Amino acid sequence: MRKPIVAANWKMNKLKEDVREFVQDFKRKLPHGVLGRVDVVICPSVAHLALFSHEGLLPVGVAAGAQDSHWEDKGAYTGCVSAAMLKDLKVRYAIIGHSERRQHFSESNAMLAGKLRASLRSGLAPIFCVGERLEARDGGQTMNVLGEQMAALSDTPAELLGDPTQLVLAYEPVWAIGTGKVATVEQAQEAHAFLRRQLSTLRGEAWAQDVRILYGGSVTPENFGALIKCPDVDGGLVGGASLEVDKFVKLIEIAAQGA
Ligand code: PGA
Repeated sequence: MRKPIVAANWKMNKLKEDVREFVQDFKRKLPHGVLGRVDVVICPSVAHLALFSHEGLLPVGVAAGAQDSHWEDKGAYTGCVSAAMLKDLKVRYAIIGHSERRQHFSESNAMLAGKLRASLRSGLAPIFCVGERLEARDGGQTMNVLGEQMAALSDTPAELLGDPTQLVLAYEPVWAIGTGKVATVEQAQEAHAFLRRQLSTLRGEAWAQDVRILYGGSVTPENFGALIKCPDVDGGLVGGASLEVDKFVKLIEIAAQGA
């Protein structure tokens, strides 16, 4: 049984006080016992990760995640943050290869392969994002695109991929991100099953069965219940709906019920 994950991707949102208020309210509203059944991750802006570690803001059992992490441990890379620095702040996860990074910062598969390696080497669990654009979906190219993006993972040395719970994938169709247009359960299940087959080719069936694959793209409390029931959907990577406490708590409850 894979334990579901609900991960909040706050992107470039919220100021310090908003973060503090969110977490206080979240602690009040999170039902008792739910964290035993769902892994919860919050990925705020890197500017706020230190609040989580220094102020001990997060409830026990809720992990901090970064939205990106560099391929080197240190060096002349202005503006970047390394996996080693994130580990030092007690960060547990890092989103790698989000489509907004691929699109606005031209992150290539080769760069992402480096980021995956560095993240795993430092003991930071990557949430590795893949997903096709609308043209690819319409042109019947979805699985080809996903296959190419998964190549970044094939470049990862086997010794870094020992523990399947240290790797998380997120299928995020680009056309569904922030658009209100969610994938159908059939589309999600087909893509997730394909990704699991790719994982199985990489490291064997038993290992692949233990890797969590999240769906992302316009997840809301209204559509999440059906998505999480898909056999290969193990949770959600959530942008917009994770910015509101009530919706985020609801998503966690839905994942707990589906588990
Ligand atoms: P969304 O974003 O939930 O706002 O569509 C998801 C994501 O970008 O990870």
